[in-house]
Amino acid sequence: MQITIDSPDATISCPVNLAAPRAKMVVANWKMFGNLALCRESLPRLSAAVIDSVELVVCPPAPYLGEVGRLAGRSGVHYGAGEVAGESVHLGAKELESRSRVHYGAQDVADVTHGARTGEWSADMLAELGCRYAIVGHSERRDRHRECNQTVAVKAAMCIAAGVIPIVCVGELMSDRESGQTEAVLAEQLNAILPLMEKNAMFVLAYEPVWAIGTGLAATPEMAQDVHAFLRHQLATFSPTWAESVTILYGGSVKADNAASLFAMPDIDGGLVGGASLNVDDLLTIYRAANI
Ligand code: 13P
Repeated sequence: MQITIDSPDATISCPVNLAAPRAKMVVANWKMFGNLALCRESLPRLSAAVIDSVELVVCPPAPYLGEVGRLAGRSGVHYGAGEVAGESVHLGAKELESRSRVHYGAQDVADVTHGARTGEWSADMLAELGCRYAIVGHSERRDRHRECNQTVAVKAAMCIAAGVIPIVCVGELMSDRESGQTEAVLAEQLNAILPLMEKNAMFVLAYEPVWAIGTGLAATPEMAQDVHAFLRHQLATFSPTWAESVTILYGGSVKADNAASLFAMPDIDGGLVGGASLNVDDLLTIYRAANI
């Protein structure tokens, strides 16, 4: 079965059912921070720490995706240790390739397959670079780039069509929460996306309350759990099996000292981590906290 979507520039279809069991996951969203040195310092350490039960995903700024891919040993481009990194790399390239199970992804993707779109990149391009994931609908893009629910939905569908798993972000403003609109806002964001996707298509949902992003004011575990349970219930109205298989991440001021209590909640399957992911030690502490 195929679902067809009209995007502004093209018609695309989502042919693949990528259903898979629900995974525990920690995603590092570096946003527009970091540099080559951070790639070369962190990837070998992260690769060496990855365990089978929790996925680790690094989403660097787009210019570093190629380097992260090489360091993760997944791009098919093989370098000697001296070429890939300076002194901070502890593993040789061969050792790195055999041990690395770090995945990587982009922070955004275009809502068309190709075209005269200066400064954008397509889901196919990400797939070609070995990206397993792409974040779509982050509140910073919804806000600064005026991305509406429909655009986010088309971006998610573009990813699925290209074999890239979308990490779809939803979240309410503080004013929504204060006026009792949290669930209505989240339902609207989610319901824009689900009908455009093949039922059981593999995607990751990230609940990021906008008021918690970069503020140090994380949602309490109970508050986040309530929302995650609501989101899973919404998913179940489309397909109960789908609802059980979708990984739902929490994002918004996840730190080394609050990750364990958040991840202990039954519907929180891991984290989408901004600021704290730039520090390798903190990221590893958060990553290990998801192994429960
Ligand atoms: P912080 O972890 O810095 O609050 O950022 C969260 C986020 O936006 C991740 O996508």
